[in-house]
Amino acid sequence: MDIQNALAVPPSPVGVTRREDYRPPEWLVPEVALDFDLDPARTVVRSRLRVERNGAHREPLRLDGAGQVPLSVRVDGALINDWRVDGERLVVPLSGGERTVEIEVAIEPEKNTQLMGLYASGGILCTQCEAEGFRRITYFPDRPDVLSVYSVRMTADAARYPVLLANGDPVASGDAGDGRHWAEWSDPFPKPSYLFALVAGDLQVNRGEFVTRSGRTVELGIWVRAADVAKTDHALHSLELAMAWDEKVYGREYDLDVFNIVAVDDFNFGAMENKGLNIFNSRYVLADPDTATDHDYDAIAAVVAHEYFHNWSGNRVTCRDWFQLSLKEGFTVYRDQGFSADQGSAAVNRIEGVRALRAGQFPEDAGPLAHPVRPDSYQEISNFYTATVYNKGAELIRMMATILGAPKFRAACDLYFERFDGTAATCEDFVACMEEAGGVDLAQFRRWYTQAGTPRVQASLTHDDGRARLRLAQATPPTPGQATKEPMLLPLKVKLFGAETGRALTEERLVLLADPAETIVFEGVSERPVLSINRGFSAPVVIESDRSVTDLAFLSANDDDPFARYEAMQQLMLDALVADAVEGDQGAYDAVVAAVAGTLDDPALDPAFQAEAVVLPSESFIGDQMGVVDPDAVFRAREGLRRTLGERLGERWAAAYDGPREHYAYTPEAKGRRRLRNVALGFLAAARGGEADKLAFTQFEAADNMTDRMGALAVLASGTSELREAALDIFYLRHRDNALVLDKWFQVQALSSRDDAGAAVAELARHPDFALSNPNRARSLVGAFGVNQRAFNAASGGGYRFLADQLLALDRLNPQTAAKLLPPLARWRRFDAGRAALMRAELARIVGTAGLSKDLFEQASKSLEG
Ligand code: TRP
Ligand code: ZN
Repeated sequence: MDIQNALAVPPSPVGVTRREDYRPPEWLVPEVALDFDLDPARTVVRSRLRVERNGAHREPLRLDGAGQVPLSVRVDGALINDWRVDGERLVVPLSGGERTVEIEVAIEPEKNTQLMGLYASGGILCTQCEAEGFRRITYFPDRPDVLSVYSVRMTADAARYPVLLANGDPVASGDAGDGRHWAEWSDPFPKPSYLFALVAGDLQVNRGEFVTRSGRTVELGIWVRAADVAKTDHALHSLELAMAWDEKVYGREYDLDVFNIVAVDDFNFGAMENKGLNIFNSRYVLADPDTATDHDYDAIAAVVAHEYFHNWSGNRVTCRDWFQLSLKEGFTVYRDQGFSADQGSAAVNRIEGVRALRAGQFPEDAGPLAHPVRPDSYQEISNFYTATVYNKGAELIRMMATILGAPKFRAACDLYFERFDGTAATCEDFVACMEEAGGVDLAQFRRWYTQAGTPRVQASLTHDDGRARLRLAQATPPTPGQATKEPMLLPLKVKLFGAETGRALTEERLVLLADPAETIVFEGVSERPVLSINRGFSAPVVIESDRSVTDLAFLSANDDDPFARYEAMQQLMLDALVADAVEGDQGAYDAVVAAVAGTLDDPALDPAFQAEAVVLPSESFIGDQMGVVDPDAVFRAREGLRRTLGERLGERWAAAYDGPREHYAYTPEAKGRRRLRNVALGFLAAARGGEADKLAFTQFEAADNMTDRMGALAVLASGTSELREAALDIFYLRHRDNALVLDKWFQVQALSSRDDAGAAVAELARHPDFALSNPNRARSLVGAFGVNQRAFNAASGGGYRFLADQLLALDRLNPQTAAKLLPPLARWRRFDAGRAALMRAELARIVGTAGLSKDLFEQASKSLEG
């Protein structure tokens, strides 16, 4: 770093929280009563806490707060004055072991742009408390190991806020006079403050009913604005499926009489699992065929299931501290992946899961923001809701399930839920249950929780005398703060196929690679074997094998594990693309063309799988395979292979495209056919240019559903014909009043492969419909641009500057969302010196900005150091 930058970096404005510093709470709060006098300009919150000294000590009661000061404090009913505010905490001197503390504060929901605590979204008042938002509502020990039984009373204007919801079950409601009304809710299950929620708004409900397997009737409700009720059937149906699935697969039953979901337009994440009252980003609730794609439908089902599953994995058993976040998130992602896999093609679901891991988590593990699944320290916990904690965390659970086998894994989950019900647990508690009920030793496996970085496994197979030897060697590259790595326990599913006969030469074997290097011997191998390894992606690692183009092509046609077939095709394509990008060598293109043709011709494959298998790897994933990413060369190679495939398989793409048109139905089969048709359209466009734009435009106009309309618009948005502007204008005029669809309009342009994409994005940031204050809108333009590898990494540095400008502006409104969008700038080490310097300059500019949030400061300063 040069001196100027070094001087510009202020000392860290925030403290660091360390896992090893965990201490049990000094005071417990078994009971809380909250009374809200709701008003968007000024809401008065009165809390009554029954507090209990935890152990023998003389410490005062210390309560977390943020952005308020108390109006009054009472102890056992009497006003006191000897409280003080220490930093952001309220300190109340208390004698004795058990007291009642009452606190009154005032907050301003309509000024809350960071969307943590109590805030207003389009006229609805709602809360978001995870991870540390409850302290913005009132003073409280805002940590997940303090579990309380809550009762809530809300009073609000009856016309503006006719619906008043909170956790648990409704108790009573009535008229409060002066045009106001009140409602009381109570939740019998002790919970941490991060699971508290309330909603007040002019909402309509789509009701359902679920009878649990023990015969209890649960009233379900999806609450939205009146105009959106027609778009809630899919979410409601998904909820019913998820409830039934959790009973069947995990034996988990719902526990309250009501389960409500509310959709709001302004939300920092996807959704939140508040006990009995999930609050959702409206993009994960609202769907009809005209406005939502198949992908949106799938995502809604997955997120509804995810939040519902948290009722057990997160709520009934919660986290002791935020370092244990993956205890609930990794496990719950694993559970929602299992649910989604059971709704349609399990193979395609696994392909999508692995693709998401490689797109989001592998780069994180390989860069300056790398951290273990159970982190050791943080400045701002919101920065640790990451692909590592969620997606890699889910892979850890999957590996344990693989090692134990299904019946023992289920028994271990039962033990975990039984043993820790009603408590705040740790990742260690979970692993200990796996060990105990599984009868296995997971001592070495535990490194997956402590060691960051993606292990790399070298695999080479030799054959002689009827014997095959598989040599495996593992190594994990260093990550920030972890220079040396211990060997990991890697469950690798392996199988051998005969190169001549094509038949299986062995059963599938589960190899538990524990040492830095091991050799596995297979006897009775009578012909040259071809290696199928990490089948089903049994371990989240990178496999480096010496398999030839011929062997990969063979596996892409013959492997009996569909994921492994997909994987062989991807490896074939990746090798071909990297050779072209690095050396201009197109020697492997023929093999790719033949393999793609074989996949399209195979009548045994369903269209959904065919579509995913023939899609080229993303530009960033290709870049990840190179020593130094050359974004222009990657783009050129990928476009070249796309055109080659488009031209040489033109008849096949046309045949795949020209199938009979059908009315929209959201079934796995129809979805697969639509996906293949839209993939074919992309290849046709690559080969035919303007002519395919006409085809796309025709599809765009004729489509009776958003999947086909967006499939066509994506092709047009990257094209050069005048039909492009026409389609974008038609789309805009048609959907401008629907925020979720308008997000797609911004996003499709931010992802365009046109040369002018960077300039277009800068222009769109000045569009009257663009607003950083809405996280979905910010993500649709700024977030999408960050993953447009070529445009974002323009050699001029204009993309980097644009992103930094947007992040600085957004940080003043919504630090959490700003910090989430920073990682594209953290990848500087992967690029050439010129680009790296430009990225670092923007990071230094961010870090040197006065008044930065700790969210953005942590991400930017760590990215710069890395
Ligand atoms: N617990 C939520 C989930 O994964 C995540 C979440 C929702 C969240 N809103 C948040 C995390 C705000 C941090 C901040 O289901
Ligand atoms: Zn979650």
